[in-house]
Amino acid sequence: MLNDQAAGLRAMHANTPKGSMENKPVRVIAVASGKGGVGKTNVSVNLGVALSKQGNRVLLMDADMGLANVDIMLGLQTKYNLSHVLDGEKTLKEVIVEGPAGLKVIPAASGVKRMAQLSAMENAGIINAFSELSGELDVLLIDTAAGIADSVVSFCRAAQEVVVVVTDEPASITDAYALIKVLSKDYQLNKFRLLANMSRSTAHGRQLYEKLAKVCEQFLDVSIDYLGTVPFDHDLREAVQKQVPVTVYRPNSEAARSFNLMAKQVQGWPIPRGVTGYLQFFVENLFQSGH
Ligand SMILES: Nc1ncnc2c1ncn2[C@@H]1O[C@H](COP(=O)(O)OP(=O)(O)OP(=O)(O)O)[C@@H](O)[C@H]1O
Ligand SMILES: [Mg+2]
Repeated sequence: MLNDQAAGLRAMHANTPKGSMENKPVRVIAVASGKGGVGKTNVSVNLGVALSKQGNRVLLMDADMGLANVDIMLGLQTKYNLSHVLDGEKTLKEVIVEGPAGLKVIPAASGVKRMAQLSAMENAGIINAFSELSGELDVLLIDTAAGIADSVVSFCRAAQEVVVVVTDEPASITDAYALIKVLSKDYQLNKFRLLANMSRSTAHGRQLYEKLAKVCEQFLDVSIDYLGTVPFDHDLREAVQKQVPVTVYRPNSEAARSFNLMAKQVQGWPIPRGVTGYLQFFVENLFQSGH
C-alpha cells in the first residue's frame, strides 16, 4: 500500500508544472481524546493560533461532524464547507476562512463523512485540491470528534502525529486508553503525544501523563510522549464565551502561555521526511483508510 501511494505521489509530481511542488513538508497533527468535552477544540484552535503567531502557516480542519465547533469557538460566519468542494461548487481555497492571527480554517462539518465514501474521480479531485495548498502550509491541524468513530480513526491514521487530550477524571483516562488501544492494536499506530488539560497544576498534569503513559506502555506496544499541560483557567472559559481563542483574548493567561510553550515543542518535533511529509500523502492515506 505504501508503495502504491509513493507511486501515486511520484506520478503527481511528474504531472505538476515545475516549481509548484517546491514545497516544504507539512506537519499533519490530529487532535483526539476518546471522551468528549475534554478540550480538543480549544487545544486545536489555540495551538493553531500559537503556531501561527510563531510564524507558521497553519490550517485547521474541523473534522467533527457533529457540531461546527471551530466556527463557534472562533466566532466565524461560514457559508461553505468541504461538501461544497466535493459537489464541485467551490474550490478548497474558496471554502477556507481566515480566523485570528492568520489561522486558516476549513469548516469541514458535513463534508467529512462523505470524504470516506468518494469515487476514484472525486478522490483525485480532492487530492488535487489539497495539493494546491502544499506550498502554502507548514502545519495542518485536525480537530477530530469525540470517541472512536471511523472518521477519527481515519484522521489519526493519516496524520503523522496524534495528540491525545486527557483530563484527570476516570472516564477521560479510560477513554483515552481505549482510543490508544484501538489505534495501536487494530491500526498499528504506536506513537502518541499526550496533553493534560484542565489540570490543577503543571505538576498534576505531568503526573497524569506519567500514570497513563506507564499503563499504555506496559500493556500496549506504544510509546507516549509528553506534550504538556494546560491548567484549568477561568480566562479560557471567558474566552470561549466571547468566541475568541484565549491565546488572543488573554495572551498572558496561564492557558495561553501553556499553548505558546507547546507550540514551541511542536516545532521541535522531527520534520516528516520522504513522501509522508507531503499533504497529498495525508489525503491519499485518508481515502485508503476509509475503504
Ligand atoms: N484549560 C481549560 N480550563 C478551563 N476550562 C476549559 C479548559 N479547556 C476546556 N475547558 C472547558 O471545556 C469546554 C469544552 O472544551 P472543548 O469544546 O474544547 O472540548 P472538546 O473536547 O472539543 O469537546 P467535544 O468533544 O464536544 O468536541 C470548553 O467550552 C471550556 O468551557
Ligand atoms: Mg470539539
